[in-house]
Amino acid sequence: MRNLTEENLTATAVERISQCGNPRLKQVMTALLHHLHDFAREVRLSEEEWRTGIAFLTEVGNITDDKRQEFILLSDTLGLSALVDLMANPNRSRHATESSLLGPFYREGAPELANGSDISGGVAGEPIVVRGQVSSVEVGAIAGACIDVWQAAPNGKYDLQDEAQPEMNLRARFRSDLEGRYQFRSVKPASYGVPSDGPVGKMLNAIGRHPMRPAHIHFRISAPRFQTLTTALYIAGDRYLESDVVFGARCSLVVDYQRDADDHDAIEFDFALNPEPKASNKNSAIR
Ligand code: BEZ
Ligand code: FE
Repeated sequence: MRNLTEENLTATAVERISQCGNPRLKQVMTALLHHLHDFAREVRLSEEEWRTGIAFLTEVGNITDDKRQEFILLSDTLGLSALVDLMANPNRSRHATESSLLGPFYREGAPELANGSDISGGVAGEPIVVRGQVSSVEVGAIAGACIDVWQAAPNGKYDLQDEAQPEMNLRARFRSDLEGRYQFRSVKPASYGVPSDGPVGKMLNAIGRHPMRPAHIHFRISAPRFQTLTTALYIAGDRYLESDVVFGARCSLVVDYQRDADDHDAIEFDFALNPEPKASNKNSAIR
């Protein structure tokens, strides 16, 4: 029998998965064991700190239900979601629009509205027009693309968090026209705090971080034969652009309001999609 020590325990744990039949799972678990053990050795994790960590993760699990996903919020605030997004969507073509986090407030089934419609449901706020074109370098304008938009109200709340807003408020799906153009009216979004009344909020507070996201409007754009683009436009000048709590803001996605010919504050933004990859080479650790 091998005598287990601080030095040989990691190798022993890795040996235990030598029979794993799924090569990707084996690779992921081997790296996880190495990094997890190295982390504990590096910080000389005490028993009390280990118990605190377990209690924290237990709280994250306990507060998670079908309406609240505290694990995703934890991943978001640690930058893991943004890292996975950046790795999954490297800007293959520098002409394609960068992606940004989907976030927990996306809802399927937003109403399909005609181009030019107002999505604000009458909430108080400064009116804006958002317009632009959907295209790809390969084919030019993309007609009939689905442009799914959602945003928080000027009070920083999504419809799901705010009884004063009608169901599905500030959400809609538009279709790009024959020239690939889309347009809708709304109100200026505001910066808002991610849910911080749970363990993740306590963690942010303990490490001296704020819970704020800069003002933004979310977009999910899909069209046959193109990769679905999940992204968001961020408003220039927002004080949280540089310190977005979930690391979602990107320089190429920052927009400013322009006073247009009709005297509206307008956001003009053209989205460029990547074509669907020819062959799929997806890895999956656990099947
Ligand atoms: C959002 O922008 O809706 C969001 C993204 C990640 C975490 C929380 C909120
Ligand atoms: Fe958001």
